[in-house]
Amino acid sequence: MELEFIKEMFDAIAPRYDFLNRLLSLRQDIYWRRYMITALHLPQAPVILDVACGTGDVLVEITDQRPNPELVVGADFAPQMLVLAKDKLIRKHLDGRVHLLAGNGLALPFPSGIFDAVTIAFGIRNIMDRESALTGFFDCLKPGGKLAVLELATPSHPFFLSLYLFYFSRILPLIGAFFSKHLKAYNYLPASVLNFPPPKAFAAIMKQAGFAKIRWRRLTFGIATLYIGQKPLS
Ligand SMILES: C[S@@+](CC[C@H](N)C(=O)[O-])C[C@H]1O[C@@H](n2cnc3c(N)ncnc32)[C@H](O)[C@@H]1O
Repeated sequence: MELEFIKEMFDAIAPRYDFLNRLLSLRQDIYWRRYMITALHLPQAPVILDVACGTGDVLVEITDQRPNPELVVGADFAPQMLVLAKDKLIRKHLDGRVHLLAGNGLALPFPSGIFDAVTIAFGIRNIMDRESALTGFFDCLKPGGKLAVLELATPSHPFFLSLYLFYFSRILPLIGAFFSKHLKAYNYLPASVLNFPPPKAFAAIMKQAGFAKIRWRRLTFGIATLYIGQKPLS
């Protein structure tokens, strides 16, 4: 039921998704994805999975940084997001190098231990059973493989926090609704970010799923957070 609502919502806003991402984040989203892929220190020819790939921006960033990957897979459960991802990959002549998969991030169809890295950008917030999702990501990583989770957050500094909350709860839903014609989606966005656990608590869920060497970094005054964890070698 909840999954169905999220899926329908992303299908509905798909055509305006990239435009609104750039506008509402003042183009910071591009820098955050770049930072995430750089921070993974991927091998030259990685085998990598991007969960909740949406319109494919993380996939493009991966191939920008690693032009000759062994395997890049993007998975998402919203068909309209995948259609846009496919178009983007074709436009950038990347369709031969990146594979798209329609599927639920909670039930990935991969064998254990095959990926050097798994990424998920602005997706884990939408998955309520986070521990199951993280356990699934852990399972399909090679020993020593890394998980990167990029997620929106709220700034810790009280001044930025009040400014941000005003923008996020009052202005952003109006702009989002105006351009996407989907009021619910851009009311859901601030609610889902405000309900997301703080870094320490999310890191504890990663640990529970088996990850080690967990670290996080707040980006752009704390409005996004990047988490990295590693599957232990043994
Ligand atoms: C905010 S978008 C992020 C897209 C992309 N990663 C990016 O960086 O722009 C969230 C995406 O997560 C997908 N998603 C949410 N829950 C999912 C699930 N359980 N399984 C697969 N995809 C999911 C949605 O369909 C949507 O495309």
